[in-house]
Amino acid sequence: MLSVLSRLIPPPTYLTMPCVGVDISDTSLKYVSFHPSARSGAFHKLKQWGDISIPSGIVNRGQVEDPKHLVGVLKEFKEKTKAEFVRLSLPEERAYLFETEIRQNTPMKEIRGLLEFRLEENVPIPSKDVFFDYMILPEEVKIRTAQVSVVAYAKETIQKYYDACVMADLHPVSFEVEAQAMARAVVPENASGATMLVDFGKTRTGIGIVYHGTLMYTSTIDIGGDQLSQVLRKEFGSDVSEADLTKLKNTVGLVRGVDSPVVRNALISTISVVKDELVTRMQYWHLRNGNSEARRINSIMLCGGSANLKGLPSYLTELLGVPCVRGNVWENTFSLDNIVPPIDKRHSFGYATAIGLALKNSV
Ligand SMILES: Nc1ncnc2c1ncn2[C@@H]1O[C@H](COP(=O)(O)OP(=O)(O)OP(=O)(O)O)[C@@H](O)[C@H]1O
Ligand SMILES: [Mg+2]
Repeated sequence: MLSVLSRLIPPPTYLTMPCVGVDISDTSLKYVSFHPSARSGAFHKLKQWGDISIPSGIVNRGQVEDPKHLVGVLKEFKEKTKAEFVRLSLPEERAYLFETEIRQNTPMKEIRGLLEFRLEENVPIPSKDVFFDYMILPEEVKIRTAQVSVVAYAKETIQKYYDACVMADLHPVSFEVEAQAMARAVVPENASGATMLVDFGKTRTGIGIVYHGTLMYTSTIDIGGDQLSQVLRKEFGSDVSEADLTKLKNTVGLVRGVDSPVVRNALISTISVVKDELVTRMQYWHLRNGNSEARRINSIMLCGGSANLKGLPSYLTELLGVPCVRGNVWENTFSLDNIVPPIDKRHSFGYATAIGLALKNSV
């Protein structure tokens, strides 16, 4: 349905209509839209953006568990934005990704049929219950074969988001794995090698590996900002406000202060688990690709609200041996030399996925 959906409404209609990028996580709905630009290549001007919190129990690890209340959240979004067409992100937790080869010059109309057979061996759900989409890697077209990256979801997963939108009087025009949307926002178009995207959120950390603009691998770690708050509360007392904890994370964080090793010491046990998980995923990726030089991860980009944790980029750079930076969520939107974005830097990291979805309008 990923691509099937984009065909539900004939392109001439939705391509000219403003679409809002909507990133639904377990705890929040974030949205972004741009003013339609008159000419291609023009700066994108931000039109709408916002964050609506989602009470717990409605979406659980990306699975819609309480459709009625999700419709309520989407109606609130509709009320605020008057949006009609939306592009939605799908949770990494529920995605099945695999890479396969097809014969060079396979006719377009045969590709889906061919890939359907490959689903059986790569996705643990009967292929009749799966929606899938694919991308052919442009730079890897060999003489006889072309590499294809396939992403699949249980129909049921997507259907629940789709139905909730329709019930809220919204028309979803496309669905996309969140890390793919995030890549569109933050990964420079001319990036070489592979990039690891780390979306350090509130309750989980999403990991994506992107190669030539295509998402090739995803996974999730069940650690987010909430877990960091928990360990800080153990240290400083359970009555410290979340705002004060955020301040501690963002102004002291992992920095080895002479006077305040307490914060770092409390956080490090949790953060080192994230680091170890990243190491494992990197090793897996390199091994899977036979240590190919071209596919080596040569940069790590952090996004998500918890990327604000002070000292995190240098900590990961040092221990992973790969340069790690906070992503510029406006990388492919406008130049920061010309425009001061209306979302401040600290809040912007959480908007990477919604920005990437909204940018899809222009490609
Ligand atoms: N300045 C900040 N603004 C917003 N969030 C911040 C800031 N500094 C730290 N954070 C932390 O970032 C987390 C929220 O991140 P984000 O908005 O990416 O999460 P989410 O997308 O709602 O959740 P998830 O992706 O885990 O489902 C919270 O734990 C919050 O404490
Ligand atoms: Mg998120």
